[in-house]
Amino acid sequence: MTVFGTGYLGATHAACMAELGHEVLGVDVDAAKIERLKAGDVPFYEPGLPEILKRNIEAGRLSFTTSYEEAAEFGDVHFIGVGTPQRRGEYSADLKYVNAVIETLGPLLKRPALIAGKSTVPVGTAQALSKRLSEIAPAGDDVELVWNPEFLREGYAVKDTLEPDRIVAGVKPGGKAETILRDVYAKALSTGTPFLVMDYATAELVKVSANAFLATKISFINAMAEMCEAVGGDVTLLADAIGHDARIGRRFLNAGLGFGGGCLPKDIRAFMARAGELGADQALTFLREVDSINMRRRSRMVEVATEAVGGTLIGKNVAVLGAAFKPDSDDVRDSPALNVAGMMQLKGAAVSVYDPKAMENSSKVFPTLNYSESIEDACEKADIVLVLTEWPEFRNLDPQILDGVVRQKIIADGRTCLNPHTWIDAGWTFRALGRSVSVLPQ
Ligand code: UDX
Repeated sequence: MTVFGTGYLGATHAACMAELGHEVLGVDVDAAKIERLKAGDVPFYEPGLPEILKRNIEAGRLSFTTSYEEAAEFGDVHFIGVGTPQRRGEYSADLKYVNAVIETLGPLLKRPALIAGKSTVPVGTAQALSKRLSEIAPAGDDVELVWNPEFLREGYAVKDTLEPDRIVAGVKPGGKAETILRDVYAKALSTGTPFLVMDYATAELVKVSANAFLATKISFINAMAEMCEAVGGDVTLLADAIGHDARIGRRFLNAGLGFGGGCLPKDIRAFMARAGELGADQALTFLREVDSINMRRRSRMVEVATEAVGGTLIGKNVAVLGAAFKPDSDDVRDSPALNVAGMMQLKGAAVSVYDPKAMENSSKVFPTLNYSESIEDACEKADIVLVLTEWPEFRNLDPQILDGVVRQKIIADGRTCLNPHTWIDAGWTFRALGRSVSVLPQ
């Protein structure tokens, strides 16, 4: 089989399919990326992926190429895992990479094949791609399309691919796609993973609605954080208490700076844009609110920090701990942490950022911020320390190591990840989004 696109999704999928025992060829137009992967080097941080990449290359099950001709010859199943980024200045998704794969690969398909789309696309895309393939593939209707969305999380990508919660297959009635896909995922299915067969449109909707639900859950708890701030309550106690209701559940109720990354923000926007095109925009107007609550948390963080240092950031040193959009990732796409760091710099602060894994990516996206080699470096003469990504080393930070390092002992928790008492007992002023220190039980 082949996997087109060797970014986050494609590289993980290719390595995991090889791990399941398939012969896999990863394909990308980016020759530099292909060279790195051939050498067993993963171009991003993902725990566990380098090991399975190397193991499968060495076992001869996994190779990489830039040649579409080679790929068409090699595969009977072709996965598409290229990106669908948000269009510049618009909400909608840009399908240029998906379309390019279909337009280039399609005319090379001379024998029966299954094309399995994994990218997150606007509803209606699979139907259009299926029609296009039957027009341009020499094998005609013997080239079938299945929509097989991917639900992996960064940081858990290997586990999510090898042991998915469910496998969704959007198919055209009467085809062979279901049988072929069941065979591809036989190992996962043997452990009881649900295999859900449906039409194209529903399969596409499953992916975007799952992300819309997750985004809504986060913005819901962040709206409650705003209420806690208004009345002096504590959102973590609230989340624990409502989370005990199994219908609600505690997962994805971590309040703080909200969601970022390459998926949730762009996917809910593209979903709204598509609903508008379909004349169903009213169905998703709530997502506009989900998006604005999410963005509001970032400005609120700047307000809380500004207040804590006396009302102005001019001339203040700010230490920012965290740059990745979440822990266990070096991804800084739409990172709330970097967004806050940038806003504080614009308001006159000297900002120093430290992140265990995302320094290289951050300095490319935000070259004007200062980057530090360690927590202590970032906190040197700081007037305030902000924890904006909940890496374990920040969560478990011992206040003593910052004694004599910072200028003022003020810390603000943007991820409700610190134990307030640890800091208060060590003589620090503690601030957090959604938590009022005065009401905290001991
Ligand atoms: C998400 C979906 O979870 C995944 O199923 C989909 O395939 C891709 O998008 P990912 O972007 O890797 O995955 O990260 P996720 O773990 O979902 O976190 C997204 C953002 O929400 C992060 O910025 C995270 O910090 C934030 N978040 C998550 C919260 O603010 N609170 C929470 O309780 C959970």
